[in-house]
Amino acid sequence: MTPARIVLTSLAFATLLTAGATRMRGTDVGYPAGYREWTHVKSELLGPEHPAFPRFGGLHHIYANDPAMRGYRSGRFPDGSVVVFDLLAVNHEEGRTFATSRRHLDVMEKDSARFPSTGGWGFAEFPGDSTGDRLSPEAKRSCAACHQRMADDLVISEYRDR
Ligand code: HEC
Repeated sequence: MTPARIVLTSLAFATLLTAGATRMRGTDVGYPAGYREWTHVKSELLGPEHPAFPRFGGLHHIYANDPAMRGYRSGRFPDGSVVVFDLLAVNHEEGRTFATSRRHLDVMEKDSARFPSTGGWGFAEFPGDSTGDRLSPEAKRSCAACHQRMADDLVISEYRDR
């Protein structure tokens, strides 16, 4: 091997190692324990007329931790921001619409170093009351793609403080 080839081969190897490490940690967005005590950002009821109903229909509440609240106020979300989309099924009875079981918990975590390919955000989805993420890497990319289309720093919802 010529010296140039040795340098190139070592560079390629180093890149592979780095990519491997990033990928391993990159898939890891943990269950957001205690999120019900975070700031409630907003709620919304999505009905059968909405195109996203099959996947996101029901009543959702959005919660943000303290770093994410700085992001809602400034438009730039710092690393460590976590935002939770808590989706509950609903039932209607005698003029009352009320939440029943959880459909899933969607989570976004900002870490620019771990999630560079999805706008600095990691995505996870915990079905029902489980604490295990069910999203494949492809599914995470499609979460990110819609969020990237709809918002500069990927967070779509807005916080109203009055
Ligand atoms: C087709 C577009 C679309 C896709 C795909 C999508 N989302 Fe969202 N997401 C939205 C919209 C719109 C909101 C804002 C809802 C609101 O304001 O109440 C949102 C809100 C959120 C929030 C609250 C933070 C924010 O951006 O407002 C989280 C967390 C979230 N989504 C996670 C996910 C995850 C995880 C996936 C993939 C499983 C996903 N989303 C896929 C459109 C999408």
